[in-house]
Amino acid sequence: MTGRTAFITGAARGLGREIAFAMARDGCRLYLVDILADRLEATADELRSQGHEVVARTVDVAVRQECIDAVADCAAHFGELSVLVNCAAIVRMDHFTDVTEESWNRVLAVNLSGPFFLCQAALPHIIAAQGNIVNVASSNGLMGTPYTGPYSATKAGLINLTKTLAMEYVEEPIRVNAVCPGPMATEIGASAMPPPTIKHEKIVRYSGQRGLGDAAAVAKVVAFLASDAAEGVHGAIWTADLGTTAG
Ligand SMILES: NC(=O)c1ccc[n+]([C@@H]2O[C@H](COP(=O)([O-])OP(=O)(O)OC[C@H]3O[C@@H](n4cnc5c(N)ncnc54)[C@H](O)[C@@H]3O)[C@@H](O)[C@H]2O)c1
Repeated sequence: MTGRTAFITGAARGLGREIAFAMARDGCRLYLVDILADRLEATADELRSQGHEVVARTVDVAVRQECIDAVADCAAHFGELSVLVNCAAIVRMDHFTDVTEESWNRVLAVNLSGPFFLCQAALPHIIAAQGNIVNVASSNGLMGTPYTGPYSATKAGLINLTKTLAMEYVEEPIRVNAVCPGPMATEIGASAMPPPTIKHEKIVRYSGQRGLGDAAAVAKVVAFLASDAAEGVHGAIWTADLGTTAG
């Protein structure tokens, strides 16, 4: 991947941060975006201290113009954009009938509209570079999970967006794939705020029989899909959930 530029969202912490380190180890130059300015800069500084070439930019992926401007800035700075990794997302947990309009709209805007805007903006660059897109979906996008209606709907939407793009651009020298992690020990739960009235026995099976996943291990799957070693993989939805969705 030496000389290739990877644009990674949600790179301040959690899985996105691990993806940044994995792709830096593979030789990529990095353009990292996140809404958390301080955490993002800390991640970027750590990568730079290891000798990697990194640009960090505070972006709210829910805002179309911010997505367009960031992609243009990345392409101008590095002269190309080979890989887009859509990893930023938020989750909120609630009883279905208690989900507010604000909550529904925000989850959709960050988790689905953001990747949509970024794919639109980045595709011309990715085609020029013969690169690829990796969307981070979720096991929630593959099966029904209680109390996560908006989140799960966005992840199912992202899975279909991945397949649709793969088909629409099947004649172009690009690849579009998605990875579906299962539950991982990250900070995403901080925004979930489940009400005390939820029934934990209804969600416990989704934490998987092998426990929580490791973000660094999932990041390796994303980095592999983004690499030329996965040249035969296009339109694929890869689970990385320790078997949670297998049965
Ligand atoms: N942690 C899990 O259990 C789990 C399971 C399946 C899938 N995933 C997916 O993995 C991905 C990474 O999640 P994570 O677990 O590392 O959580 P995380 O909260 O640690 O990371 C998400 C990142 O996205 C950023 N972000 C949120 N809103 C943003 C916005 N509007 N604009 C830009 N950046 C924004 C956050 O600041 C954060 O750095 C997400 O797509 C998530 O849906 C996570």
